[in-house]
Amino acid sequence: MDVNGAGLDTWEGCSVERWRTRWGVPELHVFRQVASTNDVARRRAEAGAPDGAVVLADEQTAGRGRRGRVWVADPRQALLLSVLYRVQEPSGALPLRVGLAVADTVDGAIPFVCQVKWPNDILAGSRKIAGVLCESASASDGGWMVAGVGLNVLQTRSDFPPELRDTATSIAAEAGRPVDRADIAGRLVAALTTLTDPAGPLSPGELDRLRRRDALCGRRIAVDGTVGRAEGLAPDGALRLRLDDGRLRHLYAGTVRLLHQTSEQP
Ligand code: BTN
Repeated sequence: MDVNGAGLDTWEGCSVERWRTRWGVPELHVFRQVASTNDVARRRAEAGAPDGAVVLADEQTAGRGRRGRVWVADPRQALLLSVLYRVQEPSGALPLRVGLAVADTVDGAIPFVCQVKWPNDILAGSRKIAGVLCESASASDGGWMVAGVGLNVLQTRSDFPPELRDTATSIAAEAGRPVDRADIAGRLVAALTTLTDPAGPLSPGELDRLRRRDALCGRRIAVDGTVGRAEGLAPDGALRLRLDDGRLRHLYAGTVRLLHQTSEQP
């Protein structure tokens, strides 16, 4: 939890209640510092918080990425937020749907089109600008999903740790000008809380939008050592991977490595 044990009453010059009504969300918790917004959102889910509840923090002390990786961001440089979705059944389509919402939001602020890289990255050019971590639980009376988004907003190149400088970027770095974090937060929350069917299969329209943003389609890749050519995404969120022997595999999780030559091995 927040070091002071409670959420903030004001954030970026306005009361949190004012942001809540402006953003039209049923519940908004804003923290100066938490371990992970996904953890707070999970606790809110277990305590009965409504669909569309949002948790936002200026800093995380134990931000998580996929597969046990850490997610680091200096205080007040990024948007670190989690949205709670009450769903019938958790679904693998949510990370890509959230990726689309993040990409739509970022597109309005930088001079080019973001790409979505299965399963959970949003790229600006070849650099990662945001990541999505979805966590869920099923229950007989309906489950929940939490979508956590880490979106780099204000960082300059030198703000990133040396090992990330060549692969990470932010909205301000791409836009070449300062941007308003609260304005981006409002747009992002609006995009995330107006999804019509968060856990449903990806619609033909969403698949079409993903096709136009797909960072992998047509590329030769290795997914945890399995090599093939990416052939787009399936309605359930799977990556379609055409193996060298012609078989098509649907993958539901994995870490992707781009292979640059036909002969390159994983
Ligand atoms: C990834 O790229 O592996 C996913 C990164 C997700 C980071 C966000 S920041 C807000 C939310 N809270 C977390 O602990 N993780 C997600």
